[in-house]
Amino acid sequence: MNNTQLTGLLEQMTLEEKIAQMLQLVVSYFVESEVDGQITGPMESLGITEETVNQVGSALGIGGAARVIQVQQNHMKNDRLGIPMLFMADIVHGYKTIFPIPLAIGCSWDQDLAEQSAAIAAKESAVSGLHVTFAPMVDLVRDPRWGRVMESTGEDPYLNSLFARSFVRGFQGDDLASDVNRVAACVKHFAAYGAGEGGREYNTVDLSERQLREYYLPAYKAALEEGCELVMTSFNTVHGSPATGNRTLMRDILRTEFGFDGVLISDWGAVIELIAHGVAEDEEQAAFLAIQAGVDIEMMTSCYVKYLPELVRSGKVDESLIDEAVRRILHLKNKLGLFENPLRGADPEAEREIVFCDEHRAASRELASKSCVLLKNTNVLPLQSEQQIALIGPFAQSKDILGSWSWTGAEEHFMNLHEAIQGRITSSKVLSAEGSGIDTITEKQIQEAVEIARQSDVIVLALGESSLMSGEGGSRTDIRLPEAQLQLIATLRTLEKPIVVVLFNGRPLDLHGVEDQVDAVLEAWFPGSEGASAITDILYGDVNPSGRLSMSFPQSVGQIPVYYNHFNTGRPKKESEPDNRYASQYLDSPNEPLYPFGYGLSYTQFKYDDMVLSSEEMTSDLPLQITTKITNTGNMPGEEVVQLYIRDITGEVVRPMKELKAYSKVLLQPGECIEVSFTVTEEQLKYHHYDLSYTSDAGEFAVFVGPNSRDAVERRFRLLK
Ligand code: BGC
Repeated sequence: MNNTQLTGLLEQMTLEEKIAQMLQLVVSYFVESEVDGQITGPMESLGITEETVNQVGSALGIGGAARVIQVQQNHMKNDRLGIPMLFMADIVHGYKTIFPIPLAIGCSWDQDLAEQSAAIAAKESAVSGLHVTFAPMVDLVRDPRWGRVMESTGEDPYLNSLFARSFVRGFQGDDLASDVNRVAACVKHFAAYGAGEGGREYNTVDLSERQLREYYLPAYKAALEEGCELVMTSFNTVHGSPATGNRTLMRDILRTEFGFDGVLISDWGAVIELIAHGVAEDEEQAAFLAIQAGVDIEMMTSCYVKYLPELVRSGKVDESLIDEAVRRILHLKNKLGLFENPLRGADPEAEREIVFCDEHRAASRELASKSCVLLKNTNVLPLQSEQQIALIGPFAQSKDILGSWSWTGAEEHFMNLHEAIQGRITSSKVLSAEGSGIDTITEKQIQEAVEIARQSDVIVLALGESSLMSGEGGSRTDIRLPEAQLQLIATLRTLEKPIVVVLFNGRPLDLHGVEDQVDAVLEAWFPGSEGASAITDILYGDVNPSGRLSMSFPQSVGQIPVYYNHFNTGRPKKESEPDNRYASQYLDSPNEPLYPFGYGLSYTQFKYDDMVLSSEEMTSDLPLQITTKITNTGNMPGEEVVQLYIRDITGEVVRPMKELKAYSKVLLQPGECIEVSFTVTEEQLKYHHYDLSYTSDAGEFAVFVGPNSRDAVERRFRLLK
């Protein structure tokens, strides 16, 4: 359809038909009873009629080509103007082939594999009938108590922005109309959902505008620059006004400043929640606020369909606002080619062939092996095939390794860790016992565990949180491993055998009782469908771990939020003054996290030579070249993530101690030495000043290059203006 035809279609629509386009319902509304073909979903609770359901613009949570085809065909029969529906779902880290959780993908620092994972997820979704995925989630996160940190790529605005771009490119490709193997992406949750107070789900967010712009907005903006078609509102407040009714955020920043002209969808129920927030008196006012803010689709509540018609007729809402929203929705349908082909990629045969195929599973395995982070290793890993191992713990034989947002994941055909290890070594070399449940332990479990541990050379403990302990609604105040598992570690420790812990979890944990008790810790996160094989590859040294943390691991909950790009304060703690009480510090804990951003070990070692700066001064026309030599001094090939950080020594407002500005992931053979170069431009030195203008300051800067945010070597240069 061209624009004139779209306008023509809009003109034919009644007000009710237009507003029905702005409603999104969950799939159960469209399931036909076998007897009479009626809609049997829970319509009454929303107070909507069957007529509205027949005209509705989109559905969420659906999947499976045959089902989608049936629902679309039925809809096309019932909709007067034959406007196809949009099918959307949360395909966050894979459709049937599940990839590691996004926080793990963040630790891969691998943009290409991230893009590939999204492209595969898009392909599997598209043949299964989906048009839109509610991803990527790019909320910056600093509080591991929040369960949804598992959905984010971490605490850094630059790294998050790169991943936001990769995911959008992977989901959408270059042209949604011609490439039916892609789906439209919906970046979420706009904005700053990750900054909820105390890490409590759905809690208040209150940030300065500078914080918002410096840390939180960049990744959403990057996704939009990459052409992301949709944006989802967040549940939280921004500057005292819930995002879903926040005109400044949605109109001034998102639409005007960022130039976004795609579809803005509310999060589930976020329009009606304006009442609970206390900014709308009733559903009518909630609808009024959301439409004024420019929310095009209301997800799963019915304030729009119930109240917008009257609000328009009484002149309180200008019909042009409705037209604006519906035009965007129709435009998206058009971009996806739905008017010409309402079934788009939905294809039961292709679905059988493509979904969860070997190629996709291999890609998942590769990304999983790049996402695991080796946190500690005192010469116990890699394991040797001849060693007798005791594989113990609630994750030894568990398939709960996909993580949250894997509702579509293929559960039938993937291996647990025990099976994967048995496939790698002579199976008699691995004995396995549960040892404990996630948060329960019995005498019998302990006895079995001790018995097999006694017969073994090495104990491998597969521990962690169940997938329900993170994800949406998964906030926790105590982020240690559950007591039962700590008890299991303490008991096995007494046997004085080497212990390797493999962690399955959706957030950085407080590792008290783990890290200090064992010889090696491999953070595997929720690694996805092929995670067990990927972990086995690492445990046995077939793959050298290369993941680097994209979110700091705290010493304890009391330190949270703890993140690398913090300020110095006026009284920074100095090593030279350990007894100074009046420094910014805790009496009972270091200030630094247990494991910092960027951290991760390898089975080999990398030596950094001094970095060389092309000059000690730079200008906007003469950027700085920074080179450093890296040598693999160990005896295994390995990948190193060479990281470059900058600090503006004196700014107009306070600047972070370090900010990641670039990195390079390099593979080095044993003994190999390579030169890694970075260019620092004036653009990278800009920040939001006191009046929020975005410029750089002349003066002194520190540049750091190294293996993580803590251990980088520092040099100075000046920016001349
Ligand atoms: C979540 C969103 C998700 C939506 C639809 C909400 O509860 O916050 O991230 O996309 O549900 O499933």
